[in-house]
Amino acid sequence: MYKALLIGCGNIGALYDLESEDVHTHVKAYSMHPHFELTIFDVNKDLQEKIATKYVTKTLNELTEDSLKYFDCISICTPTSTHFEYLSKVLKCNTKVVLCEKPVSNIIDEITQLKTLYNQSHSKLLVNYMRRFQPDYIELKKQILGILNEEQLTNISIRYQRGFINNCSHAFDLLQFLINKDIDFTNVSITNKVHDHFEIDPTLSMSCDWHGTNLSITGLSNVRFSLFEIDIYFEHTRISIQNAGKSILFSRANLSEQFLQPLMLDNEISKENCLKNYMIPVIENAYQLLCGSVSNDNFLSSCNLNQMMLNLIKN
Ligand SMILES: NC(=O)c1ccc[n+]([C@@H]2O[C@H](COP(=O)([O-])OP(=O)(O)OC[C@H]3O[C@@H](n4cnc5c(N)ncnc54)[C@H](O)[C@@H]3O)[C@@H](O)[C@H]2O)c1
Repeated sequence: MYKALLIGCGNIGALYDLESEDVHTHVKAYSMHPHFELTIFDVNKDLQEKIATKYVTKTLNELTEDSLKYFDCISICTPTSTHFEYLSKVLKCNTKVVLCEKPVSNIIDEITQLKTLYNQSHSKLLVNYMRRFQPDYIELKKQILGILNEEQLTNISIRYQRGFINNCSHAFDLLQFLINKDIDFTNVSITNKVHDHFEIDPTLSMSCDWHGTNLSITGLSNVRFSLFEIDIYFEHTRISIQNAGKSILFSRANLSEQFLQPLMLDNEISKENCLKNYMIPVIENAYQLLCGSVSNDNFLSSCNLNQMMLNLIKN
């Protein structure tokens, strides 16, 4: 058994799926995994007790460096402002595998320091951009590679709300994963920037060029609904990621010598329920890193993405 520690029993740590059968939290996914023995810690002791009782886990009263050294795998699910302190500690302890919630930090200098600590540490570090760990998205990445052998990537459109760093970073990370190219924009033009939800994280709209692809990002400011959609256009194909990523829809246009043909939905390869129980594959990935059956983490790419986005909102 591997010893796991969950720090932070809030929404993503333990509360999102408290009343449902879904597996959308770290605590539930660890508890279901046959190779983890879980301990939890939260500064809110009433909440800690409630979660420990429900999932029958051990608890820690306080978190010292010695106690951190005991664990093979640590999930950091506390507010973003606390990530730097916890990440610095676990990287210095060489904790084998760390699973940190996104974003890494809202402060550029903290990320620079963490990259240095990471390069000196033996820790593997996953940042929980959870779509990249899901089987349907791993399959989509292969399908996109196939399409790219036949067609050019031409346009990408992202629609999101509630904070550029908070939400749009999920879209950028997913594109980075699916297309296999680092996010590195040119010809950036910011068209709208509204601090509608977070003081330090505006909802921002922009257009730019990404390795020759026209990218358009609409940050839906001042809306009172949740929305996350990405359309990826090739010459004859559109992949539409809808419902926060639950649906992956393929549409294709037939080739014609005479006229451009309309896109037709391809129900055969389109998929629904792509995020069902999304924390199970994330915790499984942490387990596979621990036992050495996979070796890649996504810490440095997440740090670079995070810093690039912070630079964009600064200007
Ligand atoms: N991957 C995703 O899709 C996703 C979804 C939601 C939240 N998040 C990220 O997860 C993190 C937490 O968000 P949340 O919505 O779960 O927050 P939350 O406020 O619901 O929960 C945070 C928990 O951490 C505890 N806490 C606060 N400071 C602490 C400390 N120093 N040590 C130990 N415990 C402490 C709080 O008591 C609370 O229970 C944020 O970074 C957020 O961006 C990611």
